[in-house]
Amino acid sequence: MKILVTGGAGYIGSHTIIEIMKHTGWEVISIDNFSNSSAAAYDRIRSITGKSIRHYDIDLRDLSATSKVFAENPDIGGIIHFAAFKAVGESVEKPLMYYDNNINSLAHILKCQQQFNVPYLIFSSSCSVYGNLRELPVTENSVLPKAESPYAYTKQIGEVMIADFVNVNPDCKCIALRYFNPVGAHESGMNGELALTRPNNLVPYITQTAIGKLEQLTVFGGNYPTRDGTCVRDYIHVSDIASAHVMALQKLIDEPDFPNYDIINLGTGNGVTVLEAIQAFERESGVSLNYKIGERRPGDVAAIYANNTKAREVLGWVPQYDLDAMMRSAWKWETYLKE
Ligand code: NAD
Ligand code: WQD
Repeated sequence: MKILVTGGAGYIGSHTIIEIMKHTGWEVISIDNFSNSSAAAYDRIRSITGKSIRHYDIDLRDLSATSKVFAENPDIGGIIHFAAFKAVGESVEKPLMYYDNNINSLAHILKCQQQFNVPYLIFSSSCSVYGNLRELPVTENSVLPKAESPYAYTKQIGEVMIADFVNVNPDCKCIALRYFNPVGAHESGMNGELALTRPNNLVPYITQTAIGKLEQLTVFGGNYPTRDGTCVRDYIHVSDIASAHVMALQKLIDEPDFPNYDIINLGTGNGVTVLEAIQAFERESGVSLNYKIGERRPGDVAAIYANNTKAREVLGWVPQYDLDAMMRSAWKWETYLKE
C-alpha cells in the first residue's frame, strides 16, 4: 500500500515516516513545501532507514499541484496529514496566515481524498482544542470550549470539517489524533525537532540553552496552584506519537466496521511540571541548566494532561518512552547537531 504523508519533512512527520519504513511494508511518498523544515529531513530519514522516499516540494494550498500528486500516484491507499502551521503565539499575531494554510490545506486534502477514492485519513489534531477545560484528565468526549488561539481554532474547525466530510462520503474514514506535548527525538539521536526560528516550546528551549545557543531559560510562572508552582503538561515521546499513526491507520485497514470518524488523545496520562522536566533533563544530560523563574506566559493554563484510555483500548497503544528517555533523546539530538 502507498501512504501519502503531508508535512513529511517536519518534526512529527519525519519520525512517522521512519516508523512506517521500519515496521510496515507500506511505501511512503511525502509532500512538504519546507515552510518550517528543509529537504535535509529526507536525508536524515535515509540515514536512519537506509531507504529513500519519493517527495514533492509543493504547497498544499495549490490545489492543482496537490491533485497532480494524487493523479501520479493512483495507488495511494491512505493519507497522514501533518502539514500545518503550529505556533500558537504566531497564530494570534497572524490569524489569516493560519486560517489560510491550515484550513485550505485540509480542504484540498479532503477534496483529493474524495476525487481519488482514498479510503483512509489520519489527521493531526492537538490538545489545544481543549482550551481551558478544567476537568482533568481531559477525555475525547469533553465538550470543547471556545478556542484560545486561531491555531487551536484551526484544529477545532479541521475536526468538524472532517466529521462533516465523512458523513456524506461513507467510503472515507478518518481518525483525528489529539497530541499533547510531543518532545524528544529518534533514539539514534539522528533526527529530531529542527525549528527554523527561535524555539517556543519548552524542550528545544532547554536543550538549546544547555548547549549554549540560548543564554537562559525562563520558567513561565512559579506561583501556579500546582505541586511546585510551575505548569503541568503531558509530554509524550515523538516516536510514541509516530507509532500511534501506524496503529491508527492499521486499525482502519483491519476493521471495516470501525466508525467513519473517531478522535483519540495521545498523551502518557502523566502530568509533569516544568521544574520536573528540567530536573529530568539535568539528570539525563549531566548539565546544570541556567534557568530562572519568571512571569507567567499569557494564555498558559496551569495544568493539562490526557486521559489516554481510548488510545490504549482502541488502538492497543502503550507509550514506550518515559520522561527520562524523552530528555535523553532530545539531548542526544542537540549534541548530534553540534558535531
Ligand atoms: P512541523 O512544522 O515540524 O511540520 C509541519 C510540516 O508541514 C513542515 O515541514 C512544513 O514545512 C510543512 N507544511 C506546512 N504547511 C504546508 C503546506 N501548505 N504545504 C506543504 N507543506 C506544509 O510541525 P510538527 O510539530 O511536525 O507538527 C505536525 C502536525 O502536528 C501539525 O499539524 C501540528 O499542528 C500538529 N501538532 C503538533 C504538536 C507539536 O507540539 N509539535 C502538538 C499537537 C499537534
Ligand atoms: C510547555 C510548558 C510553558 C517555554 C503547545 C501548544 C499545544 C501543542 C503543544 C500544538 C508550559 C513552559 C515553555 C519556556 C517555560 N502544540 N515553558 N519556558 O504551551 O503546553 O503547548 O505545544 O498543537 O497546542 O499550545 O507547550 O512547550 O510551549 O510549554 O516555562 O521557555 O513549558 O509555560 O507550561 P504548551 P510549550
